[in-house]
Amino acid sequence: MDFASFDKRHYPVLGPRDGYGEWAPTYEATVLDLMDLRLLARLRCVDWPASEATIDLACGTGRVGAWLRAQGVARLDGVDLTPAMLALAEQKKRYDRLILADVTATGLGDGAYDLATQSLADEHIADLRPLYREVARLLRPGGRFVLVGYHPHFLMLGMPTHFDRASGDSVTVESHVHLFADHVTAAHEAGFVLQDMVEGVIDDAWIAAKPKWAPHRNHPISFAMVWRRG
Ligand SMILES: C[S@@+](CC[C@H](N)C(=O)[O-])C[C@H]1O[C@@H](n2cnc3c(N)ncnc32)[C@H](O)[C@@H]1O
Repeated sequence: MDFASFDKRHYPVLGPRDGYGEWAPTYEATVLDLMDLRLLARLRCVDWPASEATIDLACGTGRVGAWLRAQGVARLDGVDLTPAMLALAEQKKRYDRLILADVTATGLGDGAYDLATQSLADEHIADLRPLYREVARLLRPGGRFVLVGYHPHFLMLGMPTHFDRASGDSVTVESHVHLFADHVTAAHEAGFVLQDMVEGVIDDAWIAAKPKWAPHRNHPISFAMVWRRG
């Protein structure tokens, strides 16, 4: 679903590559680890250090890559569409390889990985089916796909993924609303089975970090799903 019918901000909209190209220098100062890393830490069915080859899709500046390395993953590659985000990931020196590509068509080898992650990017992808198909292709049988997303409930409240330009004006990065059923349908078509799912809400820790979010207390802001490739 196009986000436009839910939009309450009406900021100008940039495509993902242009948007993150401009956001890259300030991105890490604006995104909270509570959004995704806290959810990853709650997942019990993923044996992170057991992964021999991991691909971090839409890796951005490498926040998730740094977390994955801290959990003990061995080989780690990253893919992203935005050169400026990849350049910052490169500086972190957490990835063995960084690839400039779309996550729906990475060009990487069949069955090359036993673990795939993707955090905070599915809302920028209009159709989830090519994403799940590509991840199924990249994983070995039994491999896991851990997807963390911005919660559709929050998007439907009218708040898009957005950032402030150097001028102070806010802009939206093109967003799409995916219901959880859209994830399930796309994942099942690609041969995945759901193993775990958690949701994160606006709680005391969030409000301590972002006091203006107090009116959103208890609303779900993010989710994590663990899919197993059959
Ligand atoms: C919110 S950032 C998340 C970055 C990183 N995963 C994190 O959690 O910090 C979204 C990232 O998705 C990337 N992206 C969006 N659509 C993409 C696509 N179709 N293929 C590859 N990367 C994409 C953007 O370039 C951006 O780096």
